[in-house]
Amino acid sequence: MEITVRNCKRIKVKQIVDEKDGILSIVECMNEIPFKINRSFWISGFEYPKAKRGFHAHKKLEQAIFCISGSFKMMIDDGETKQHLILNNPNLGVYIGPQVWHTMFEFSTDCIIVVLASDYYCESDYIRNYNDFLHYVGRGKKI
Ligand code: TYD
Repeated sequence: MEITVRNCKRIKVKQIVDEKDGILSIVECMNEIPFKINRSFWISGFEYPKAKRGFHAHKKLEQAIFCISGSFKMMIDDGETKQHLILNNPNLGVYIGPQVWHTMFEFSTDCIIVVLASDYYCESDYIRNYNDFLHYVGRGKKI
């Protein structure tokens, strides 16, 4: 499925298949990853089947999200267009640019998510309330 949500796109990972010796997956800064990587984090240990993560957007941060084991679902929303994605392939990630509301759910127990981010952790870059997000992207209801 083509991604039409603003500031989002698929990332195809470079892959070297070493037959019985495994698969080498490679991304490089400014090649597959369209920003300078300043932070990386990974998420694992999905024991609770109803686990949900995300529920925020970033003002400036850019992220590249990969599911390197198992699977999970993601909802991305630019305030106008929403899309549901399934991440279940270590060689196909997703770029989430600034001002994209995203939620993650339906993680398999073996799911491992790797995130590459353009900047250090900064809580003031988060928008954690959906109405605030809509206002931020110019889509809030006028009262
Ligand atoms: P958050 O980004 O909200 O997680 P998710 O989107 O996966 O649900 O982060 C969860 C908590 O961890 C929050 O209190 C902030 C903290 N945190 C850091 O301190 N540093 C980091 O680099 C990240 C990603 C989160």
